[in-house]
Order: sequence, then C-alpha cells, then structure tokens
Amino acid sequence: MKKVITYGTFDMLHHGHIKLLERAKKLGDYLIVGVTSEDFDKTRGKINVQQTLMERIEKVKETGLADKIIVEEYEGQKIDDIKRYGIDIFTVGSDWQGKFDYLNEYCEVVYLERTKGVSSSDLRSKERALTMGIIGDNAKYIEKFQKEDKYVNGIKIVGICSNNLSEMSEDIKNLPYVTNNYEELLANVDSVYVKTKSQYHYEQIKQALEAGKHVLCESPICEDREQCKELFELAKSKNLILLESIRTAYATAYSRLLLLIKSGKIGNVVSVDATCTNMKNMEDNKNKPESMRDWGYNALLPVFQILGTNYLKSNITSFFIDKEKKYDYFSKVDFVYENAVATIKVAEGAKSEGDLVITGTKGYIYVPSPWWKTDYFEVRYEDNKNNERYFYQLDGEGIRYTLVAFTRSVYEKKPIMFIEPNVSQEICKIVGDAYKK
Ligand code: CTP
Repeated sequence: MKKVITYGTFDMLHHGHIKLLERAKKLGDYLIVGVTSEDFDKTRGKINVQQTLMERIEKVKETGLADKIIVEEYEGQKIDDIKRYGIDIFTVGSDWQGKFDYLNEYCEVVYLERTKGVSSSDLRSKERALTMGIIGDNAKYIEKFQKEDKYVNGIKIVGICSNNLSEMSEDIKNLPYVTNNYEELLANVDSVYVKTKSQYHYEQIKQALEAGKHVLCESPICEDREQCKELFELAKSKNLILLESIRTAYATAYSRLLLLIKSGKIGNVVSVDATCTNMKNMEDNKNKPESMRDWGYNALLPVFQILGTNYLKSNITSFFIDKEKKYDYFSKVDFVYENAVATIKVAEGAKSEGDLVITGTKGYIYVPSPWWKTDYFEVRYEDNKNNERYFYQLDGEGIRYTLVAFTRSVYEKKPIMFIEPNVSQEICKIVGDAYKK
C-alpha cells in the first residue's frame, strides 16, 4: 500500500485545497493529512487563521478524501511522521517548491501545481476590510505601528491625525487621509487607534464612539475609574468595540505565565514586583518625563491580573522635576492585599533592572528585562534542578497580536478581552491619582 502525506492550515477550506487533496489522494492508496495547530501556525508567523483547529479538521474530514487526519504541532515533525507512518510520498502545493527537498532522504517528494486565483489569505481579506486612522504625535512608535497592518488580514491603516506631521515617516505622510483635524479623520475611517497622552483619551474616545467608530486605545483608557466605566458602557450601547492596547497582555508568553500561576505552579502568590524604566533626556522640553503615564499601566497589569483589584491599601510615591508636580521622573506604588503585597517602580529619569518577579509559596517566576516584551520566563524553585524555562515567539513586539484581537473583535461583534474591565478601570484610577494634586 502506497502511503501519501500532506500538510496545511486549511483555513476557510476552498477549492484550491480540495483540488490539492484530490490529487494527493491519487498519488497513492492511503492519504494522511496534517492540519497545523494554532500554536505551530503562530510560531511560523501565521497569526490570522480564522477557524479553530477543530473547525479546520472537521472541514478536511467532510471532504472524505483523508484516510487519517493528524495535527502538526512542531518544527521537524514531518520527519517524525514520515518515519512513524511509513510514508512513501510527501506532497504539497508548488508554492513550497524546493522547500521540502530535504525530505527526499526519507521518501519521495512531489510538488503539485497550486490552483491559481484562490487562497485563504484572499478569502480572509475579502471578507474583511476595516479601515483605521491613528491619532497621536509619537512619530517613532506610530511608524512601527503602521508597518504592522500588513501582517494582519482585514484591517488597513488609512489615515493619521497629528500635531507632529513634519516628524512622521514618508509612509505615514502618504496615507490617504493626513490631517490635524480629528473630526476629519473620524469622518473617513471605520475605527481609530488612540495613541495620545492619557489625559486626552477620555474626550478622544468619546468623540470617536459618538461618531460610530470602533476604538483601540493605548492604555490607560483614561485617568478616572468612573470615566473608564462610562466609556465601556457607551461602546456597548452603540454596539462598538473599545479595546485597550497593552502589548504585553497580548503576548503568548505572558498569557501562558498567567495560566501557570492560576494552575498553582508556584503555590499562592504573595508578592508581585514589576519594574519598568527608560532614560529620557531631562533637558528636552518637548518630551518631559511622565513615568506613571508612560509606564504605570504596564507595570500595573500583572499586579491586577494576578492579585485582582481588591487591595486593602495603596500608596503612591513620586518624585517630580517641577514644582507644579506635573512631570514625575520616578514613581513607586505599593499595594497591600489580604494575603499578598505588590510593588511597581517606574521611571524615565532613573534606571533600574526592568524585571518582573512573582513570589509564590512553592516557587517564583522570574521574567528578565525587558519583561514587558515577554517572550521568555523561568519558574524557579528552592531546588534548582526543578527549574523550568519557557520561551514563546513574540513577533512585531506584540503590536500585530493586538491588531488581530481588535480586528476579530470588530468582525465578531464581541470584544476579545485580554484585559478584564476591572483591571482597566483600576489602572485608570491609579495613573490618574498619581497626577492629582
Ligand atoms: N493550495 C493549493 N492551491 C491554492 C491554495 C493552497 O494547492 N490555491 C495548497 C497549498 O500549496 C498547500 C495546501 O493547499 O499544499 C494547504 O495550504 P494552506 O497554506 O492551508 O492554504 P493557503 O490558501 O495557501 O493559505 P494562506 O493564504 O493562509 O497561506
């Protein structure tokens, strides 16, 4: 019996896939189809897959062409499978021409002509064409953000509203809608990404929602707990998506870390200590330090996601560069919970180790600097032979995962919540309090 194997994502199964499976089947007597797992697709940069693994397997099954369906989970698995199942022929479409020649050592490799004019990517894009405008002045970051939309199907950045247009890249300046008038930007887009200072967020989000636009907003949503609540309620009442963007929250390693803690891996958490610092030029009058506004939300995220928001006491200590106490170059916030404590340290005019340590009754989790771009962490114990290391790929500094979550939320008409509402609200409160006189 001649055994054939082929692999693919098979998202939104289309006639190109069916034609490939039909021809693969004809190459032998028994066809095994490997369907890629979500994690495996993520590690190879395919982050837009619409259907779940189970849905995709179901669709392949329905074709009746596969004698066996397996899941492809890791790099190098093809060699294992070929040996394990005694495969005679490995086949894929011609878009992979030459890429799998190394398998010739184990079986025959056949590239089948790819069907022209159809692909999952096209189907995903056709179904979705959400436009987005950006409001903000931070040219360096906006440039980075704008480059990420090409990795995400179904969303296109088409405009910018800024008071700092002269500093923006050529790509940004050449967008279809370039303006310093927010109303004008809103009139031309379906959604907006708010990347301004948080003291302006409340008004800007409200204006966008009232104009019927979905909003992705850099954290914090605003600087007041009640206003934050009000904005989420406004979005809900208008059937619009309001999503908070903290890139860390969307990083796979960070979400796995939260799950490990929930599963009791380090026992009960007794302390969370997060530090975020970067040095700003203290002489630069246009870019003064606002450590809590720029870093506070990020450091608060693990505190509230791990310990919750029902702390008993909090205390904010800030050092400012000015008498009016507007620009904090260093801030520290301490929390006391019933059975735990937490500390965050943030600074733009002082330097420290930017790590995250989560102390538990059985062991601790250590995330090295810069922990907010989490791709690696360690679970450490008294007996270091039991230590474990975890690594998860983080592409595009997490921006593209945020965009994927936002795009999906809009199309599924339901927010994909990586950050719980009480966490968002509490972040607003603490950041706001830091600047209240
Ligand atoms: N395939 C094909 N003809 C097409 C599309 C895909 O023969 N028009 C083949 C691929 O070469 C591969 C298999 O179908 O062997 C599964 O491909 P997959 O990557 O899942 O499909 P794509 O439509 O190429 O998906 P994407 O756009 O996400 O890359």
